[in-house]
Amino acid sequence: MPVISGLEDVIAAESSICKVDGEKGRLIYRGYDIDDLAEHSTYEEVVYLLWFGQLPVRNELDRLYKELGASRKLPQPVINAMKNFPKEAVPMEVLRTVASMLSMYDADANEKSEEANVRKATRLTAQIPTIVAYWDCIRNDRKLVEPKPEHNTAASFLHLLHSGKEPDEVAVKSLDVALILHAEHELNASTFAARVAAGTETDMHSAVTAAIGTLKGPLHGGANQEVIKMLIEIGELDKVESYIKKMFQDHKKLMGFGHRVYKVQDPRAAHLRKMSKALGEGAGETKWYEMSNKIEQLAKQEKGLNCNVDFYSASVYYMLGIERDLFTPIFAISRISGWCAHIMEQYKNNRLIRPESEYIGKMDLKYVPIDKR
Ligand code: CMC
Repeated sequence: MPVISGLEDVIAAESSICKVDGEKGRLIYRGYDIDDLAEHSTYEEVVYLLWFGQLPVRNELDRLYKELGASRKLPQPVINAMKNFPKEAVPMEVLRTVASMLSMYDADANEKSEEANVRKATRLTAQIPTIVAYWDCIRNDRKLVEPKPEHNTAASFLHLLHSGKEPDEVAVKSLDVALILHAEHELNASTFAARVAAGTETDMHSAVTAAIGTLKGPLHGGANQEVIKMLIEIGELDKVESYIKKMFQDHKKLMGFGHRVYKVQDPRAAHLRKMSKALGEGAGETKWYEMSNKIEQLAKQEKGLNCNVDFYSASVYYMLGIERDLFTPIFAISRISGWCAHIMEQYKNNRLIRPESEYIGKMDLKYVPIDKR
């Protein structure tokens, strides 16, 4: 059998959670187009949709909202441990470590019923934003405030991040839409990692920990942090062209561009582009949007490359005043819902995921005792 590099085009699971149509540039969650959801839905509603397969009626949404609101606190020993972490620890390292730690304080940690998995998914979805916000406060010596149960996910994150300052409506709405757009993307690398872990029948926290570690890489969720690093390094609109052309001459990868599945524009990028423009105009600082736009044109013209979700999300989060190294954790704040949906789907119809490799090493060597080598 031929080896398929990077498992490109390999169908590795049946799933009814999400469809990515790479030819038409469409993204569908449980039958609903992402354009429709981004326009009309909320992140919490999308979480319900991903986990339970249909949009909630009012009391179902109220219940999930309430459960998320009641589950945002972190156990005190976990907060104490975070206070002892080195201040220079990268937020994604902290998130990966703390998500794993939480299982030791979760009464359902090794309980495998469907109900227990939904309870754990709810707690993880509620706690991950708190971890990210608290870590930014701890490392910068800002005070930790209690989450407010009435906040939605976006508002809670911003409220905790800014030590109790009520977030403004535009920021909450923008982040809520960004969370909808990042929630799910079928067998992307981190979700696949989560499904491989779940396929061994390990617990949900272990599968989520594997996913967070996978998301961190710059070819996946880590790309949004690289994008803002590049924008800041370029600095001005008139420097974009020479910078990007030099990158291409040097055969360097342009972060936030290219995709394994989309052959046309990533549908999420259109929403983020619009948001980046609106936030820039609202703040009277359109430079980051304009630079991004210019890079997008050059990438298309020079290399035929389309931008992906990570490109405009960088200027969106930057305009929201969020620290650069929190960009990938924000991806995790959203994608936790998709990971949990896949982990639960994998548990329901599980078979161990165990491919093979083509051995290309030596054969038939004879063991030589150490003193004779
Ligand atoms: N910059 C420059 N050239 C690129 C880029 C890019 N960003 N992406 C693809 N190409 C070129 C690549 O050099 C190759 O050209 P050639 O055939 O001449 O060697 C061709 O396009 C195919 O690229 P590939 O790397 O084989 O494609 P892949 O499917 O293995 O990788 C990818 C997909 C997303 C890892 C890649 O496009 C990439 O590294 N992009 C930059 C990182 C990034 O933005 N990642 C976020 C992905 S989307 C959201 C997410 O998952 O987080």
